[in-house]
Amino acid sequence: QMQGAVFDLDGVITDTAKYHFAAWSKLAKENLDIELPASFETELKGVSRIDSLKKILEYGNKLDQFSDDDIQELAAKKNGYYLEAIEGLSKDDILPGITELIAQLKAHNVKMSLASASKNAPAILKKLGLFDKFDAIADPAKVAHGKPAPDIFLAGAAAVDLKPSECVGVEDAVAGVQAIKDAGMVAVAVGDANELAKADKVVPTTADFSYDLFEETFEKANA
Ligand code: G6P
Ligand code: MG
Repeated sequence: QMQGAVFDLDGVITDTAKYHFAAWSKLAKENLDIELPASFETELKGVSRIDSLKKILEYGNKLDQFSDDDIQELAAKKNGYYLEAIEGLSKDDILPGITELIAQLKAHNVKMSLASASKNAPAILKKLGLFDKFDAIADPAKVAHGKPAPDIFLAGAAAVDLKPSECVGVEDAVAGVQAIKDAGMVAVAVGDANELAKADKVVPTTADFSYDLFEETFEKANA
């Protein structure tokens, strides 16, 4: 039986993925003279702040023009744009089905932990009124490698005293699904089934999430 659920945040619990991309697009355009194609959004999902910026600079063939200090400064600027965009976030911004899912997981004594790459995750959970629902939040500043490396999901399971094999990981990002699988967890993903084909189960929207779906996927993967 599934003992734990280890969640990504952006794009799974709340739709902040679009604000991240809008902030990167603004930074790229106004500060770097790089026009990001819409298709870049998928590539940046789940990717840490600094790694995202490096991908953007690489895309614009400008990575060698910026020092480490420049990169820190640009990343901070992007975070400023992002914080402005999410200022008004509230419980109305919890994605469909998530509140019900959390209640079902609690009712079945499934431990809940967060494995977001975002340093803004605790503040966002507070805005959504969900901070107290989680048994643990893994700190992305304390793991060596960002997604697609498994580190943050391993930390998420360890934070609730579970083995990865006892947990389901939940993601919307290609990099995140890779991280879950390499952590040795069962992966449930939301989004495009072709893009997220490495997951054990992909559903089109978060409204499709339920304890039964997670448990069924967990049992099938372990059969
Ligand atoms: C999540 C998002 C990424 C974001 C990363 C870091 O994984 O999907 O788009 O870059 O978190 O977020 P932060 O809030 O620390 O910049
Ligand atoms: Mg995500």
